[in-house]
Amino acid sequence: MTDGGRFVALGPGHLQSLMAIEQHSFASPWSEEDFLYLFADRSALCLGLMHTGELVAYALGYCDGRDFHLASLAVESESRRRGYASRLLQQIILQAQRRGADRCTLEVRAANRAALMLYDKTGFRSLEVRTAHYSGPRDDGIIMGRSIEIL
Ligand SMILES: CC(C)(COP(=O)(O)OP(=O)(O)OC[C@H]1O[C@@H](n2cnc3c(N)ncnc32)[C@H](O)[C@@H]1OP(=O)(O)O)[C@@H](O)C(=O)NCCC(=O)NCCS
Repeated sequence: MTDGGRFVALGPGHLQSLMAIEQHSFASPWSEEDFLYLFADRSALCLGLMHTGELVAYALGYCDGRDFHLASLAVESESRRRGYASRLLQQIILQAQRRGADRCTLEVRAANRAALMLYDKTGFRSLEVRTAHYSGPRDDGIIMGRSIEIL
């Protein structure tokens, strides 16, 4: 069930909270430089979800023509299964649509069951498998996509 919260546009001032979530969420976390690079990119959308004054989740991506590519999505570990990722996905897709995107793509590890379930539930379908695309640990990458013409 969704548990309140408000959306914020992320920037360098959120780096510390972002890094804390990132490092608990991924085997190969992004560096501060990776986030700063995206914040400076005019094609990027960097969206956070705050709850009781704390950043609890974020979604980041960039527009490439009519494609919006979701580059990262994570929820603070104690705040999962409350609908935050679903809400962020819906909101960032809406923002991408306002920028003219009509398709959203992403890549997910084949072993990431939670993310696969989330994306399946939010209308994404598998488009391609990239064998052994990930290392540490080794894993296939699944490219998923969905139309965002109709939300
Ligand atoms: C994947 C992740 C973003 C999901 O965030 P979340 O806020 O817990 O997701 P939601 O609460 O919006 O869940 C929506 C649906 O996704 C599915 N889902 C989410 N987590 C799940 C899990 N652990 N197991 C099975 N299904 C899950 C369910 O269908 C869920 O609906 P339900 O709760 O009504 O059953 C979160 O687990 C996370 O941050 N994981 C680490 C980072 C990561 O893997 N990011 C994705 C990279 S591609």
